[in-house]
Amino acid sequence: MLQKILDLLKEVSTLSVKSPEELESFRLKYLSKKGIISDLFEDFRNVAVSEKKEVGQKLNLLKKNALEKYNSLKSELLTTEDISQATDLSRPSFPFSTGSRHPISIVRNEIIDIFTRIGFTVSEGPEIEDDDHVFTKLNFAPEHPARDMQDTFYISRISSEDSSPEDILLRTHTSSVQVRVMQNQKPPIRTISPGRVFRNEAISARAHCIFHQVEGLYIDENVSFADLKQTLLFFAREMFGKETEIRLRPSYFPFTEPSAEMDVSCKICGGKGCNVCKYTGWLEILGCGMVHPNVLEACNINSQKYTGFAFGMGIERLTMLKYQVNDLRLYFENDIRFLDQFKTAF
Ligand code: DAH
Repeated sequence: MLQKILDLLKEVSTLSVKSPEELESFRLKYLSKKGIISDLFEDFRNVAVSEKKEVGQKLNLLKKNALEKYNSLKSELLTTEDISQATDLSRPSFPFSTGSRHPISIVRNEIIDIFTRIGFTVSEGPEIEDDDHVFTKLNFAPEHPARDMQDTFYISRISSEDSSPEDILLRTHTSSVQVRVMQNQKPPIRTISPGRVFRNEAISARAHCIFHQVEGLYIDENVSFADLKQTLLFFAREMFGKETEIRLRPSYFPFTEPSAEMDVSCKICGGKGCNVCKYTGWLEILGCGMVHPNVLEACNINSQKYTGFAFGMGIERLTMLKYQVNDLRLYFENDIRFLDQFKTAF
């Protein structure tokens, strides 16, 4: 019997298993109630007294080793199973969802990038403004219709009859930042001002009460309309492509003289005419002009010495043209199905 136990000790120590089934048959063979070790304990009764001590020790050792072996084989099997799962290259990848920039931010950043490359700085001003910065210093006559309650959100009015410089309102355009910059800096001034503006408009596909503009201002000695044209041509070609043409049409703004509106050649049809450009081949993108001497003087800049140009554009409009979005309301609804489409933009 002793020899048998010694043989089994050797057998157990060298055993290995490859599957849960093999592990189970190991357990049945050695450790179950009807297994070898249990049988040996039965037979132990018949061992001669003189041998009981030695045989007993070896038998206990066999039981202990067999149990330990079983447990270690079991944990070995589990870890190999885990590893084979972790390295299963056919498993579908973990869906890692990234966010995206809002299209208005993408286009605003692009505009900023283009103008900072030619020496413009970025200035900001408050969204809650006074009449003085939004209208009066920009040469709006006291009875100008833009001051009307129809267009402007007033927060407080000193007098309900006439406008007063102390009237507090939500800015209707970013041209108000021009005034703040001119009041605080000496020429040469070369800056753009992106920001949110507010107008009392009924919300529709083509109009919204909140939108975004970028204002531009350049003031120095001898700044001419030719400088304005060249700056805007550079911008249009950077924004819409090298082949883009521009055209300036005479217009009117109280704060510029002369004033113009700028069109770019339609990128969709290459100027041939399509439904985006309403078959004209041109798309209007901004207003511009030479800063009115009254505006320079109102901001303590000598209009005999300095001249300048200004321009203002709507970011929603540029984004509509760039991405073919035809409903302004989409920009404000934050519908993931809309925003997701800008993931590949930067
Ligand atoms: N402030 C004008 C608007 O909101 C846009 C504009 C036009 C700005 C001409 C300018 C400019 O600086 O010169 O419609």
